[in-house]
Amino acid sequence: MNPEEILLQVADEVRSCTKCRLHTGRKNAVPGEGPADSEIVFIGEAPGFHENEQGRPFVGAAGKFLEELLASIGKSREQVFIGNVIKCRPPGNRDPQIDEIQACEGYMETQIQAISPKIIVTLGRFSMVRYFPKAKISAIHGQAGWVGGRLIVPMYHPAAALHQPSLRDVVIADFSQLPGYIQQALESQQSSVEPPEEPQQLNLF
Ligand code: URA
Ligand code: SF4
Repeated sequence: MNPEEILLQVADEVRSCTKCRLHTGRKNAVPGEGPADSEIVFIGEAPGFHENEQGRPFVGAAGKFLEELLASIGKSREQVFIGNVIKCRPPGNRDPQIDEIQACEGYMETQIQAISPKIIVTLGRFSMVRYFPKAKISAIHGQAGWVGGRLIVPMYHPAAALHQPSLRDVVIADFSQLPGYIQQALESQQSSVEPPEEPQQLNLF
């Protein structure tokens, strides 16, 4: 199967998935969307109200802010893949539970393997912990690190910036570093030097 076919298959599986309790309350599962050859993958937390209504990621207020952030680096949402750790809406937007994350994480993993992006941007702590299990987002936001041969950039969730206006400028500043990180990732993939396999924090600038 080619990457596009794999993404379609994952989306089909997600829409009929009953692997955790969240399937009982969903209106629409939200598999994620974007080109199979995206350079960047954004990973959020879980669908909220509007995402559950529409079956699409980041279509509410946080999504509007994410689109503004993308525009600030000259990108549109159609050019990137946007997914979530959890594909069905937790009731009342509560935090995902450990067993729900464990049941669901294989879908995002398969999507990432298929796309093989240069860069993964994690939005919020639930997508950050996959790559930096012991880190605090307040300490490492905006600082890229190599994990498993991919450059991972942890960022605050756009919704956090909507709730805490003081974070807004932080998120905007972190986003402004992305073009530089993309360049770094491209150059390192072209060189003969393999990026480190072990999780390692690097501040590239
Ligand atoms: N917040 C998320 O984490 N994901 C969405 O898809 C929407 C809001
Ligand atoms: Fe399946 Fe994930 Fe939805 Fe749970 S949240 S039912 S594991 S798709």
